[in-house]
Amino acid sequence: MPLIDDISTLEQSALASLQDADLAALEGWYAKFLGKKGSLTEILKGLKDLTPDERKEAGSRAHHAREKLEASYQARRQSLSRAQMDARLASEYWDALRPLQTGHGHQHPITQITEELEDLFTVMGFTVMDGPEVETDANNFGKLNFSDDHPARDMQDTIWLKGESALMRTHTSSVQVRSMQLLKPPFRIVAPGRCFRFEETDASHENTFYQAEGMMIDKDLSVANLIHVMKTFLSSFFERDVNVRLRPGFFPFVEPGFELDIQCLVCGGPGCPVCKHSGWVELLPCGMVHPNVLRAGGLDPNIWNGFAFGLGLSRLVMMRYAIEDIRHFLSGNLRFLEKF
Ligand code: PHE
Repeated sequence: MPLIDDISTLEQSALASLQDADLAALEGWYAKFLGKKGSLTEILKGLKDLTPDERKEAGSRAHHAREKLEASYQARRQSLSRAQMDARLASEYWDALRPLQTGHGHQHPITQITEELEDLFTVMGFTVMDGPEVETDANNFGKLNFSDDHPARDMQDTIWLKGESALMRTHTSSVQVRSMQLLKPPFRIVAPGRCFRFEETDASHENTFYQAEGMMIDKDLSVANLIHVMKTFLSSFFERDVNVRLRPGFFPFVEPGFELDIQCLVCGGPGCPVCKHSGWVELLPCGMVHPNVLRAGGLDPNIWNGFAFGLGLSRLVMMRYAIEDIRHFLSGNLRFLEKF
């Protein structure tokens, strides 16, 4: 029966072209073969010319063909949609648990050492103090026993603020003055911070650098107390027994004043290039607080006395990590910073 042959042919070619159809072509395929004006509908118009038996047979054949094509259409549609979704998931997914590609930030080596130093002094009963980087002439010099024409002012090349008597503090010793005015004696303070000097920079000089001031005020303190506190701090900091010695040093705010040296940590004494073959390395200035400084801070030198020291923080970090140039610290060079 030709009509049944037509249905079979239609079925074959519909199935074949379904294999080539993508998602966009699917609706067109459906309309072409199974739609109201599609090929199958067209063929079935011939039913009216058949005998009742033939019509029954052809009708049933057409019914099966439609069911088969409908099912194939749905299956093709599903598999194409799934493939499309898989491709999207593969290219667009976001794994919230995947480690970040960018590196994590971390503290600057100076900040790390500052916090370590604060911890070590806090354990010894010291309070951490802070002071402004812009200071008065009085707090930076005058109350520290620098007279107006004192030659020691020339020791520190000061950065002055335009048109004002304010300056960028040249040392953290200004916090000594503030502490005496703020705290009731006896007290122990340590004050890390940034200092500024107007100077030519080289491997060991920077116009911006870090110090930590220390001051202990009590009754009957002696140089022995100063040495003990320094030795305790330095031994914890360098994680080994550190030998120290004092040499005379001059600073207007201490009397007597000293330069404290430590026995070379590299050779242990016999001499090496690091200690320039002397066995000792100059580390920090210190001394007993000058009576004029106590008075300027509102303390009676007949009752109170004390000691003070000035740690070069940048220097300490350089020694700990064998950094050869102080200018690395503020260079912003990530290759340097990432080492810490
Ligand atoms: N402020 C001094 C300086 O910067 C160091 C110092 C501090 C000396 C405390 C003695 C006592 O050079």
